[in-house]
Amino acid sequence: MKVLVIGGGAREHALCRSLSLDPAVSALYCAPGNAGIADVATLRPVDALDGAAVATLATEIAADLVVVGPEAPLVAGVADAVRAVGIPVFGPSAEAAQLEGSKAFAKDVMAAAGVPTARSYVCTTPEEVDEALDAFGAPYVVKDDGLAAGKGVVVTDDLAVARAHALACDRVVIEEYLDGPEVSLFAITDGVTVVPLQPAQDFKRALDGDEGPNTGGMGAYSPLPWADPKLVDEVMELVLQPTVDELRRRGTPFSGLLYAGLAITGRGTRVIEFNARFGDPETQVVLARLRTPLAGVLLNAANGTLDTLPPLVWREDAAVTVVIASHNYPETPRTGDPIEGLLEVAAEDEPDAYVLHAGTRREGNTVVSAGGRVLSVTATGSDLAQARAKAYKAVARIRLDGSQHRTDIASKAAQGH
Ligand code: AMP
Ligand code: GLY
Repeated sequence: MKVLVIGGGAREHALCRSLSLDPAVSALYCAPGNAGIADVATLRPVDALDGAAVATLATEIAADLVVVGPEAPLVAGVADAVRAVGIPVFGPSAEAAQLEGSKAFAKDVMAAAGVPTARSYVCTTPEEVDEALDAFGAPYVVKDDGLAAGKGVVVTDDLAVARAHALACDRVVIEEYLDGPEVSLFAITDGVTVVPLQPAQDFKRALDGDEGPNTGGMGAYSPLPWADPKLVDEVMELVLQPTVDELRRRGTPFSGLLYAGLAITGRGTRVIEFNARFGDPETQVVLARLRTPLAGVLLNAANGTLDTLPPLVWREDAAVTVVIASHNYPETPRTGDPIEGLLEVAAEDEPDAYVLHAGTRREGNTVVSAGGRVLSVTATGSDLAQARAKAYKAVARIRLDGSQHRTDIASKAAQGH
């Protein structure tokens, strides 16, 4: 099977790594990719947002499956363009991707499907904004309706800050604050059948102790020793299956990866947000634990035959990933700095620990930083404590001027809470 992966972050590196280890995959391409993905896939240049260009590339390489990684191409209709030339795609249509592309749309689907989520108002005028902020009180949760690359959500006790963010958006969702630990649960679906993956936890804040600004994610781990063993079944029944059923009922079936961002509150599990693609960095740890070869799973979802898939098989191991970000991330990340130590990790730590590339590119013989999140150092071990130790040992070998990483990824969970 020839597979083309669209995107070029650590999530796509994790996907490509798993696909490259799958004996069913005879050729693997990634467009545009990055310096690390080049080790496991043939890179092709493409504008990932240009559906026609992606469809042409997929036809040219005679791809049997196209996997669209990031949300922006999905919302732009890239999966539709590839499907239109008759090539199976893992990833939802533009219409179904509105589940991530519009917070108001997601709320509407959840209301129709009876999915538990924060109570919310959609506001378009300053009067509506003030009314909604007043109704919920602090802490205020204000979300830009559209895609905002992780910058659209403000959670604050400061009314002026909440109001300013709301007024800067055309349309905002203002909602009830959800208290409790967050869980990311991914499910693979063909629009009818839903297959949940293992839950993971992401660390969204930039600094240790969940301080500092929100980021795209600074690390993740799986499994979650503190979570109720019935969590996956519960979320399947209350969230994932009803959402997939509702989108099918509307005539816009969702096929691809449905990502439920959940808060485990004192009053039960609530959806914080949906995404229409694999999460980053959670994918790095979830795929590290998946034993079932990946390509067949994704192809079954693309072809609408997930009901024929045998149950997924998971490794007993735990996995931890630690993101190394550039100087000044997330504000104005500095790029172009050389990265050293990659070969040492490859020589000393693999296969238990390995480096997945996010924002990197090659300049001659050097790999240099090319984005805010630069690397995602991933490790597996017999438990979280061991996986964590291996991940941080590998992190210590990497040298990138001015870089930052959290030192507390999975530390509480490794102690059992
Ligand atoms: P989102 O882009 O919707 O995932 O929001 C980013 C982050 O903001 C989430 O991971 C949460 O940490 C936080 N957040 C979003 N919505 C809420 C909420 N209703 N209550 C508390 N925190 C929230
Ligand atoms: N890990 C958060 C996200 O992928 O949106």
